[in-house]
Amino acid sequence: MEPITTIIKNATVATATELLHCDIGIRDGLIVSLGEVNDENAEVINAAGRLVTPGGVDAHCHMDQPSNDGSVMADDFETATISAACGGTTTVIPFALQMKGSSLDAAVKDYHQSAEGKAVVDYAFHMIVTDPSPDVLEKELPKLVSSGYSHFKIYMTYDDLKLNDYQILEVLALARREGALVMIHAENSDCIAWLTDKLEAAGKIQPQYHATSRPPVVEREATHRAISLAELVDVPVLIVHVSGSESMEQIRIAQNRGHKVFAETCPQYLFLTAKDLETPDFEGAKFVCSPPPRTPEDQEAVWRGLQTGIFQVFSSDHAPFRYADETGKAHAGKGAAFKYIPNGIPGIETRLPLLLSEGVLKGRLDIHKFVSLTSTEPAKLYGLFPRKGTIAPGSDADLVIWDTKTPFTLTNDRLHHNVDYTPYEGMNLTAWPEYVISRGEVVSKAGDFVSTVGRGRFLPSDKRKSGPSVGQWK
Ligand code: URP
Ligand code: ZN
Ligand code: ZN
Repeated sequence: MEPITTIIKNATVATATELLHCDIGIRDGLIVSLGEVNDENAEVINAAGRLVTPGGVDAHCHMDQPSNDGSVMADDFETATISAACGGTTTVIPFALQMKGSSLDAAVKDYHQSAEGKAVVDYAFHMIVTDPSPDVLEKELPKLVSSGYSHFKIYMTYDDLKLNDYQILEVLALARREGALVMIHAENSDCIAWLTDKLEAAGKIQPQYHATSRPPVVEREATHRAISLAELVDVPVLIVHVSGSESMEQIRIAQNRGHKVFAETCPQYLFLTAKDLETPDFEGAKFVCSPPPRTPEDQEAVWRGLQTGIFQVFSSDHAPFRYADETGKAHAGKGAAFKYIPNGIPGIETRLPLLLSEGVLKGRLDIHKFVSLTSTEPAKLYGLFPRKGTIAPGSDADLVIWDTKTPFTLTNDRLHHNVDYTPYEGMNLTAWPEYVISRGEVVSKAGDFVSTVGRGRFLPSDKRKSGPSVGQWK
């Protein structure tokens, strides 16, 4: 038998279900033993007194994704995945975007080219389906779902992305037939357009009115409709980036009625509010994302939803646009109306430290829930478990050894993304990865990237194993 190559000594290992005090033996990039492990030729990393969790799985992040409005994402696969690695994320699932009128196959092929030679951690792809033509539904999607692309996102808003209800039903029916999981961006497009027109007519165009144009009812109605459409087709569905109590309520009701409705939330809904968009001198643009951050009461509701199981997934929704750059937040000019500000904020590196520091270490969330939300459940839902998402013999040796004893103030210069700000500037935190290990290799140490660009591998995703119940609809 091949010798053990690396031993993590005296770790406090947290999984979604267990807390173990043990060594971790690693061979060929895999975890091979948990217990007392000794091998005099192995590299030893001393983890005494350190919490060790599975590498994070960021199941919602955007990188090198084309847009139609003249803005350009600041991160490609290299900068985004270096940033991910330094923050403890060892698997990312970004989006291969189908342009309307173009094929999905082409989108997936192009996105592989974007990732190859650049990604530093492993990656799977979601697809974004914007044009569910008969060819896409009957030929492309069934083939793609069977060959490792078993989950995709659809939008209920944005003119260049949105589907109508008929198209959503077609996509959900396809997912049911093929064993795919559909993620839905739930906001009512016409309500947003109508409100935006009224606000503009009244001269209310500053960044803060982005939040006014997308109030909770807009998200709540679309969430209710998305769930209803999924119920009609009898297929599981996942509502992404849920921002607060009103849409959570719709999800909770459906879950209590036994529908397979999964839900995701993100750091911006725990740590930002709509007030941040009021920051003067166009700086509110730094916080423009959709759905927008809400109120302190919504933040509390989201914390409760993480504790009580309404949410299964905690993702970054990293959507990186530079602030002081003509391709970023101000691409239409500083002071341009909010509708021209690209939606999205950065957060791929800060996702895990924020939740560990402010959730687990402050007693709001237990460590197993933390692991489940940030790694195990996303790996399961998107067909990557048990290769990813846990610490167990046979799983990839993707690990984070945490420093939870050194308080620091978060500043953007600590981060590795190609964005010139962090929305969380100035927060006082107490958790940061000391070592991040991907397939047995240290990729980040003491906050620095220490590995090789291009080492990341594509991960084909399994189809959903447990299909939906047989409903009246076929
Ligand atoms: O504002 C956001 N969330 N931008 C990223 C794209 C999306 O809808 O997730
Ligand atoms: Zn979205
Ligand atoms: Zn997103």
